[in-house]
Amino acid sequence: MPADTRALFQSRVLLLTGKGGVGKTSVAAAIGRLAASQGRRALVVEVDNQHPTLPVIFGKATAYEPVEVEKNLCTCNIEWAQALEDWVESLVSMRRIVRLIMKNRVVSLFLQVTPGARDLVMLWRVSELAKRFDTVVVDLPASGNAVAMLSVPLTAERLFAAGPIRRCADDLLAMYGRADTRLALVGIPEEMVVNETLETAIKLNRDVRGLSVEMILLNRASLPTLTAAETALLARLEAETPEGPAAEVLAAGRWEEGLEAATGEALARLQASGSPVLPLPALPRNVGARRIVDQLSSALARATAARIDFLGVRGGAAS
Ligand SMILES: Nc1ncnc2c1ncn2[C@@H]1O[C@H](COP(=O)(O)OP(=O)(O)OP(=O)(O)O)[C@@H](O)[C@H]1O
Ligand SMILES: [Mg+2]
Repeated sequence: MPADTRALFQSRVLLLTGKGGVGKTSVAAAIGRLAASQGRRALVVEVDNQHPTLPVIFGKATAYEPVEVEKNLCTCNIEWAQALEDWVESLVSMRRIVRLIMKNRVVSLFLQVTPGARDLVMLWRVSELAKRFDTVVVDLPASGNAVAMLSVPLTAERLFAAGPIRRCADDLLAMYGRADTRLALVGIPEEMVVNETLETAIKLNRDVRGLSVEMILLNRASLPTLTAAETALLARLEAETPEGPAAEVLAAGRWEEGLEAATGEALARLQASGSPVLPLPALPRNVGARRIVDQLSSALARATAARIDFLGVRGGAAS
C-alpha cells in the first residue's frame, strides 16, 4: 500500500487512535490545522470526551455542533445522547415523534445497553459530518476502545439482516471502504507504548474490515542531532569523570543520547511491522498546548513538502 503523507492528511475521514496520553488530540489538531491551511474545510472531532482537550488547545469551547476556531478549521465533541437523537431523527424525520421515542424508557434503555449501539451512533455522526467538510480528523478513544468501536459495524452487519441498524452498519462499512477514509496510529518512543501500538495495529488490521493502519505517527521523537564531535566530547568527558559544568554537559549529553537511542529503537520496531512511520518532534512542554500543535503542524507541513517524508517505505518512493 502506498504511504503518501500528502494523501493521508487530505483524507475525507482520518481516524486516529493510540495509547492514552501519547498526543492523539494534539496530532489530530495539527493535522486539522495543516488541512485548513491548505484551503480545505477541516473539522477535528473528539468522541464523547468528558474532558475535551480541543478547547484547551484552541481556546474556544467545543460543542456537539462544529464551532469555527480558525479560518477553515472547526472543532466539535460528539456527545452520545445528542448523536442518538439525531440518528433517530434521521430515521423518522419528525421531531415530535423523535422526542416521544427518546422519552420511551424501554427504547432508550435498549439503546444504552445494546453493546455497540453507542459506538455505531457515534460513527454514524462522523459519517454525517464528513458530508459537510473536506477533511474530518477523528480523535478516537484510546487503542482498545477504538478497536472495539471500529469493529461494531461488521458485528452489526452479522447480527442484523435488515432494519435501521443494519442500514447504518452497511453505510459505515461503505465509508470504511472508500479510498479517502484512512486510519493511522499515534505512538511515542517508549517501550510499553511501542508494544501497545504494535498490538493495536495487528488488531485493527485483523478485526476492522475495510480499514488498515496506513501510518504510525511517532510523536515526541528525538531524531539524532548529536554531531560526531559532540559524541566524541561525551566519550572524553565520561573518561574524565568531571565535576561542575563539565559534569552537567555530560549529563545533558547522555540524556539526549538516551532519548535518541529510544527513538531509534522505536522506529526500528515500528517499521518492522510494515507500516510507514512518520516521526514528529519532541517539543518543550512549557510552551503550552497551542504552540505544541502549531509546531507539530509545521513539522507535518515540512514532511509533506519534502516527500522524503516517512521512514520504512518499502521501495523507498511515495506514490
Ligand atoms: N510532540 C510533543 N512534544 C511535547 N509535548 C507534547 C507533544 N505532543 C503532545 N504533547 C503534550 O502532551 C500532553 C498530552 O497530549 P494530548 O492531550 O494530545 O494526548 P492524548 O493522547 O490526546 O491524551 P488522552 O489519551 O488523555 O486524550 C499535552 O500536554 C500536550 O501538549
Ligand atoms: Mg486526547
